[in-house]
Amino acid sequence: MEMILSLLCFTTLLFSGAQAAKFANDFNVTWGKENVNITSSRRGDVVTLKLTREKGGAGFRSLSPFLYGHFSMKMKLIKGNSSGTITTFYMSSQDNYKKWCEIDFEFLGNVSGQPYALQTNVYIQGVGNREQRIYLWFDPTATHHTYRFLWNQELILFFVDNRAIRVFHKATDLGIPYLDYQPMYAINSLWNGEAWATQGGRVKIDWTQQPFVASYTEWNVSEACKVQNATGTAGQHACYKKAYQSSYGRAPNLALTKTQVQNLRWVRKNYVIYDYCTKNATATAECARNWP
Ligand SMILES: *[C@@H]1O[C@H](CO)[C@@H](O)[C@H](O)[C@H]1NC(C)=O
Ligand SMILES: *[C@@H]1O[C@H](CO)[C@@H](O)[C@H](O)[C@H]1NC(C)=O
Ligand SMILES: *[C@@H]1O[C@H](CO)[C@@H](O)[C@H](O)[C@H]1NC(C)=O
Ligand SMILES: *[C@@H]1O[C@H](CO)[C@@H](O)[C@H](O)[C@H]1NC(C)=O
Ligand SMILES: *[C@@H]1O[C@H](CO)[C@@H](O)[C@H](O)[C@H]1NC(C)=O
Ligand SMILES: *[C@@H]1O[C@H](CO)[C@@H](O)[C@H](O)[C@H]1NC(C)=O
Ligand SMILES: *[C@@H]1O[C@H](CO)[C@@H](O)[C@H](O)[C@H]1NC(C)=O
Repeated sequence: MEMILSLLCFTTLLFSGAQAAKFANDFNVTWGKENVNITSSRRGDVVTLKLTREKGGAGFRSLSPFLYGHFSMKMKLIKGNSSGTITTFYMSSQDNYKKWCEIDFEFLGNVSGQPYALQTNVYIQGVGNREQRIYLWFDPTATHHTYRFLWNQELILFFVDNRAIRVFHKATDLGIPYLDYQPMYAINSLWNGEAWATQGGRVKIDWTQQPFVASYTEWNVSEACKVQNATGTAGQHACYKKAYQSSYGRAPNLALTKTQVQNLRWVRKNYVIYDYCTKNATATAECARNWP
């Protein structure tokens, strides 16, 4: 009984995707309420986050955490001089759980005409230091683009418009724990990161350009295991079981496809601007596994 109450797994569209995603069904504003504006459109709700010097930024979070699934968000980033700002879409266990886990998309703003950097990271049991940064092959401020995580019991894939840009494989055989026990929320935020975001923190926010506005829409958690009560372990166990019956837990999602390998090589060759792998010799084994 407790187990039945403690979890809810979905095999159908959870968030209604392009049809008519409703903010209130899926998310909650967690901070900066006055900087959040939700409007509805034919394709579902559009959420804008605003950052100003006087009132700060804002964030919103999924109502429940998940263990495994596909998670995507369409985002349009701040136009013009966005230096010092950070816009995010990430999954995190947050402080509800003892061992912090996180997978991130963080968009680091720049002065007008200079490229945004997309930083990705992976935290497992409180250990991060796995930053990679890329430039994008399009202007992320012109229109919405899709950013997506695929998280299953073997790997985590980061996608930009359906192109794989990064993979993190399970490597427990190398002594590296995996994100396979810790439910995570889907979180989105806009904040002041001028201490480090742009050109190593040299360029700060130009407040004469405020408000800074980023837009989110058409989120899609197509198939994911939602954990209603993660205090016990019942929710996790049900999600492990579910994973083996779900498409995210079956081939081809458990290994890279040919196209994904090509995408990753293309990104590495043309767009990577920073990679922790080149800075940290201890991480060699996991890095060798993660760059095909
Ligand atoms: C939601 O995501 C899944 C998995 O990536 C995809 O197959 C599906 O087409 C998406 N749905 C919409 C409405 O975009
Ligand atoms: C929404 O977020 C607020 C602020 O963190 C919190 O107090 C409230 O309980 C949340 N509501 C739900 C339904 O999660
Ligand atoms: C929210 O956005 C709509 C449409 O752009 C606008 O008319 C409205 O004034 C905005 N509301 C707030 C509180 O900013
Ligand atoms: C901003 O632009 C500068 C100059 O082109 C570049 O070196 C830097 O990587 C860009 N991105 C960030 C986040 O600083
Ligand atoms: C953008 O803002 C930064 C920080 O105030 C400033 O140094 C820079 O000159 C501005 N550049 C452009 C091109 O807008
Ligand atoms: C969540 O699970 C724990 C441990 O099984 C239980 O003690 C607690 O009452 C549950 N909470 C809710 C809100 O169901
Ligand atoms: C280097 O990598 C190892 C193994 O992943 C990790 O434990 C350590 O924290 C990293 N050190 C730094 C300085 O990033």
